[in-house]
Amino acid sequence: MKILIIGANGMLAQDVITVFQTDHELAVCDHPDIDICCSDSVKRFLNRHEPDWVLNCAAYTDVDGAETNRDLAFAVNGDGPGILARACCSQGSKLCHISTDFVFDGHTQEPYCETDPVHPLSVYGKSKLVGEQQIQAAFDDYLIVRTSWLFGRGGNNFIKTICRLATERPEIQVVDDQRGSPTSAADLGAILKVALEKNLCGIYHACNTGVCSWFEFAREAVDQAGLSARVVPTTSAHMPRPAPRPEYSAMNCSKISHDCGLQIRHWHEALRDYIAQM
Ligand SMILES: NC(=O)c1ccc[n+]([C@@H]2O[C@H](COP(=O)([O-])OP(=O)(O)OC[C@H]3O[C@@H](n4cnc5c(N)ncnc54)[C@H](OP(=O)(O)O)[C@@H]3O)[C@@H](O)[C@H]2O)c1
Repeated sequence: MKILIIGANGMLAQDVITVFQTDHELAVCDHPDIDICCSDSVKRFLNRHEPDWVLNCAAYTDVDGAETNRDLAFAVNGDGPGILARACCSQGSKLCHISTDFVFDGHTQEPYCETDPVHPLSVYGKSKLVGEQQIQAAFDDYLIVRTSWLFGRGGNNFIKTICRLATERPEIQVVDDQRGSPTSAADLGAILKVALEKNLCGIYHACNTGVCSWFEFAREAVDQAGLSARVVPTTSAHMPRPAPRPEYSAMNCSKISHDCGLQIRHWHEALRDYIAQM
C-alpha cells in the first residue's frame, strides 16, 4: 500500500516508519513542509502522493501548554484532522488518525471501551475530541486509534526524563494517583500496520496491557535501567500542573486485539526491550 505519514518527525511516527517501511511504500512529511491546518497544503500532498492511506501522527501534544495556547491546540488537534478527512474523502484515500485516553475524565476503575462516554478534562483532551468528531462528520473511511502514555525512540518522553533525573539526583518524586497504560510506540506501530492491512475502520483503543501509576512506571524504568535513585510516590496535589489529568485512563484493547488477531504484550516487556535499546 501507499501510505502518507504526517508528523513524521514526531515520537510515534519515528517508530511507525521503521515498522511500516519494510512492507509498504511510504511518503513522509512534517511541519512546516505540510500544515494540517491549511487545506491547500494538505491537498497538495495528497494530490502529489495519491496514498491509499494517510496516517496522521501530527498533533499539538503539549498537554500543559494547551491550557494557554488554546487556539493553536484546537486548530491542530481539532480542525486539522477535519481538513485531512475532507481532503482524504475527495482524494479517495482512507485516514488513520491517532487520538488519546485524555478524551475520558477518569472517573472509573475499569478500562475504558470504545463505546464509553467521552468527557475530556483538559484543553488538549477537548481539542483531540473535536478532531475525532470532525473526522466522523466528514466521511466513513476513517480509523481512529486512541492510545496512551507513549514511549518511543524519537524525541523526549517520560522514561527518558526519569532515567536522566535518576542519574542526576538520589531521589525522584512521581505522582501515584493517576493510573493508565504505558504504550511502546514500536508496539503501537506494529498494531497499526496490521490494522491498516486489514482495512479496519471506526474507533479503536490500542495500548500495551497492564495498568500502573506514573510512580510505578518510573520505578520499573529505574529498576530495569539498573539505576540507584530512590523513586518516591507523591500526589497530584503536591505536584500541581496547569492541565487537569484523568485519575484513571486505562483502555480496554480487546476490540483491536481481536480484529487484528494480535496478542498485545504487557508494558513491562515492552519497556524491557526499549531500555535495552536505549
Ligand atoms: N505522547 C503520548 O504520550 C501520547 C499519548 C496519547 C496519544 N498521543 C497521540 O499520538 C500522536 C503522536 O504523538 P507524539 O507524542 O508522537 O507527538 P509529537 O512527538 O509531539 O509529534 C507531533 C508532530 O506533529 C507535528 N505538527 C505539529 N503541528 C503540525 C501541523 N500544523 N501540521 C503538521 N504537523 C504538525 C510536530 O511538528 P513540530 O514539532 O514542528 O510542531 C511534530 O513533529 C498524537 O496524535 C498524540 O495526540 C500521544
